[in-house]
Amino acid sequence: MARHQSPSQSNLRWLADGLLAGGYSAEAVRQQLGIRHPDDIGALNHAPAVERLRGDRSATATLTRLWFLETTELQRTVDKALGTDACERLIGIGLLRRCSAGRVVARLRIEAVDQQYFLADRRFLGVDRTALHLSGRDPVYPPSSDSFLLREIIPMNGDPSVLDLCCGSGVQALTFATRASRLAGVDLNPRAVAIAELNAGLNGVDRFDVRCGDLYAPLHREQFDVILANPPFVSSPYERGPAYHAGGASGDRILRRIIKGYSKHLAPQGRAFAISHVGLRRGETMTGVAAKWFADFPGRALIVTLESGSRVDLAAAQAQFAFERGRRAYAAEVRRWVDYLRRHRIDSIVAFLAVAERNGTNSIEVVDGSPRILPLPLTPSASQRVADWLLKK
Ligand SMILES: C[S@@+](CC[C@H](N)C(=O)[O-])C[C@H]1O[C@@H](n2cnc3c(N)ncnc32)[C@H](O)[C@@H]1O
Repeated sequence: MARHQSPSQSNLRWLADGLLAGGYSAEAVRQQLGIRHPDDIGALNHAPAVERLRGDRSATATLTRLWFLETTELQRTVDKALGTDACERLIGIGLLRRCSAGRVVARLRIEAVDQQYFLADRRFLGVDRTALHLSGRDPVYPPSSDSFLLREIIPMNGDPSVLDLCCGSGVQALTFATRASRLAGVDLNPRAVAIAELNAGLNGVDRFDVRCGDLYAPLHREQFDVILANPPFVSSPYERGPAYHAGGASGDRILRRIIKGYSKHLAPQGRAFAISHVGLRRGETMTGVAAKWFADFPGRALIVTLESGSRVDLAAAQAQFAFERGRRAYAAEVRRWVDYLRRHRIDSIVAFLAVAERNGTNSIEVVDGSPRILPLPLTPSASQRVADWLLKK
């Protein structure tokens, strides 16, 4: 019979060890499913991803299905992958739920990121509000492509004091797990605060100071060498959705306040790194909008644009969740997003990284960092193949 423990009492290191021993890693997920980022699997390609791994009884495939694809798995197969009685322990702490016919299902997902693991709310099965005996209904954002893009650009120098604003699962702050002299995080969502603390435990970090509140409010006058932020930034009609989602019509509502706070909370020579979207209205430019954000900042700033699209592009991508209700529901959802953006006069949406350094020189630079795909054929083209074949005697 499983014992019930509160999550703070449960030491999760054994789980991280089991996941590692079972070969559950970011690279294994990428290889098995042929993807780059976890959110490359969505409503439209979840079923084929499950099919790819169907019938594979290896520990790695079992753990990938259970924690990443969120399918039900045989308890005995999961025990084989994670160690005897693992399922009973995980059911006891509220991380697995027993289903019918000897099967179990994950109540939170676990994302493998570099050498770390992150608990977060599920992508495909909906939020299980009492998972891990947590409370709160607002879902915790699973590390996604935006999380990784930000993580990838953060330089790892020295032993800085680090603040992760809008920390969610803690995926940004915990990049500095072994080197920060001080590690702090803030999130508005108490469920995210609880999960970020558990993720610190899962990754063997005992000094992650996570506070619940609105941006800098819980920090008084504290300053940091590094400030990281992946705020909610979607130009979305769903203002009352999850706290991780909407950033006002122009997407920069939270980012603007984050940048304003740099003057007070970034230490001299300190650096800040953020990722966001911004919705541009007719006549607006990235340089003009960014110049307003950084007008009072005593330092230099760099904006690296990553991608730009029309309001229809954003609508097409964001409305995908409605596909579960059918093609008409999707079409209605696309229309809803486009109408919302048109009403707010948003013509285009730019994804970008914002880097700032507090050094007294006020300047701003905007550069294009969108990935380039070089048209360099590695094999002869199809038409070349046909032409060659026809010439052959
Ligand atoms: C897009 S998620 C990012 C989570 C994580 N940092 C990552 O990179 O995956 C945004 C997070 O901001 C939090 N948030 C939204 N508004 C906030 C505010 N005013 N103050 C602090 N956190 C906020 C949400 O609860 C959510 O966890």
